[in-house]
Formats: sequence, C-alpha cells, structure tokens
Amino acid sequence: MTALLSVKGVTVRFGGVTALEDAGFDLQPGELLGLLGPNGAGKTTMMRSITGVVTPQAGEVTLEGHPITRLPTHQRVRRGLGLSQQIVRPFRSMSVVDNVTLAAGHAKTASPLTALGRRLRSAERERALELLLQVGISEVAESEPSSLPLGMLKRLEVARALALDPKLLLLDEPLAGLNHLEAGRLADTIVALNESGLSIILIEHNLSEVLRICQRLVVLDNGRNLAAGEPRAVMDDPAVQAAYLGSGAKPDEERADA
Ligand SMILES: Nc1ncnc2c1ncn2[C@@H]1O[C@H](COP(=O)(O)OP(=O)(O)OP(=O)(O)O)[C@@H](O)[C@H]1O
Ligand SMILES: [Mg+2]
Repeated sequence: MTALLSVKGVTVRFGGVTALEDAGFDLQPGELLGLLGPNGAGKTTMMRSITGVVTPQAGEVTLEGHPITRLPTHQRVRRGLGLSQQIVRPFRSMSVVDNVTLAAGHAKTASPLTALGRRLRSAERERALELLLQVGISEVAESEPSSLPLGMLKRLEVARALALDPKLLLLDEPLAGLNHLEAGRLADTIVALNESGLSIILIEHNLSEVLRICQRLVVLDNGRNLAAGEPRAVMDDPAVQAAYLGSGAKPDEERADA
C-alpha cells in the first residue's frame, strides 16, 4: 500500500538550533496517528515541514507518492493537506461562520482577500454551517470569535481546517487548554472525523486522550525519532518514559487544566 504521507530524513536548523535531525515517518490512508514528544521535541517543526511553512535543509516529504517538499503551502493544501495550528488565530471582527466560509473560499482562490472582496458565496456558507454542525458549534455561528471560550475556538480552528477539504488533517495541540470534559468531547469529534474517512495526524500532550483515540504513535525527542508503534507498547518503552521525565514536563491533565 502506498503511504498517504511519507516523511524521510528531514533536518531543520534555525541558526544554531537543530529542531529536526534526520526525522521521518509514514502515514497510511485512514490512519489516526499521534505525534508525540516532550516540549521542544520538534513536533510543530515537523508539522510545518509537512505543510511548507518551514523549508527543511535536508529530507523529503511525499503525499500519495508525489514529492511536495518544494511546493508552497497553498499548493500542498490543494493536494489535500489541512492544518489547524497550535495558536488559535481566527479573524476577530468576523462571525464564526464567516471565518469558516472564508477558509472554504481560500481553498478555491488561494487568496483570502479575493475571497473577502467578492460576496461570500452561499454554497461556501452552507458548507461552513455544515462544518460547524460537525464540530458541534453551530449554535454560535453568528457570534464573533472574541466572545467565545477557548473550547469553542479550538473547534472553530478544526472547522477552518476541514473547510480546506483535506485528505490529511494535521492538528497541533487541539486539546491544549481545554478542561477534561471539553478535551474528551473534541477528541470524540476527531475520532468521528477519522471514522468518516479522514486521515489525521494529532500532535498532543494530553496523553490519556491520545492513548484512548490514536491507532499508532510516533515519538520525537530532541528532533530525532525516538519510538513508533502501537500506543501502549510505545508508552511502556523506557526510552519514551525517560524522555518525558527528563523534560520535567507533566504532559497530561495538569497541563490541560492549566
Ligand atoms: N522559528 C524558530 N526559530 C528558532 N528556533 C525555533 C523555531 N521554531 C522552533 N524552534 C526551536 O526548535 C525546537 C523544536 O521546536 P518545536 O516548536 O518544533 O517543538 P514542539 O515539539 O512543537 O514543542 P511544544 O510541545 O512545546 O510545542 C525548539 O528548540 C525550538 O525552540
Ligand atoms: Mg509545538
């Protein structure tokens, strides 16, 4: 079976800091993969290398067998990548549904200003409303993001990523900052999206949810591959436990409730 995504030998340096060193993994179609590692392990840099926000000094990224390493982000999005970032950044002066409509327009025009300048098309708005329903925040469609709690903004961020109609959804800490109940609900939504056929890479520090929902894990540490495989076996790996302990991070609920 051809991997949906294949990342091989990726190295990223920022000045003197090596964020990734010869790192990589494969994702099979339909997988829900957890990408883990302590703070600073290189997870976000890996996601940015996949989406084209960061250009690696070495390595290759292929999507459905086609090299995408040298393509700009908008072309990778056209080929099926959708991303939801660690920092939530909606347009504050625009309603929730318009934020998602704009993302849907962006998928077609590659220019948010073009999408803004013309009348937002009703088909795109219909699609945006469907997506809000899918992520469970349709009741706040007409609200402005600034009036919403973090749990809803996180869902908005997922809806905006889905508006790109991705084959592969990349989620960077979607559960961070959510309480136990909210995190569980959004994790259930992520499972439902995966069951509907979407392949997903989930970066998360909330290990109890990761263990509950992910089919396979890849662990990075200090920019390198540390472990990969079935979730329980990976978490029982002494090297993985040492990496988490060594980081001084208590990656689980404590952080989620902070
Ligand atoms: N734009 C940048 N400029 C300089 N250094 C960077 C940049 N982005 C990341 N780094 C460094 O690269 C390393 C990996 O960072 P990255 O953000 O990928 O880690 P992470 O695994 O996502 O961490 P966290 O769990 O805290 O989000 C860190 O040492 C970080 O300080
Ligand atoms: Mg990160």
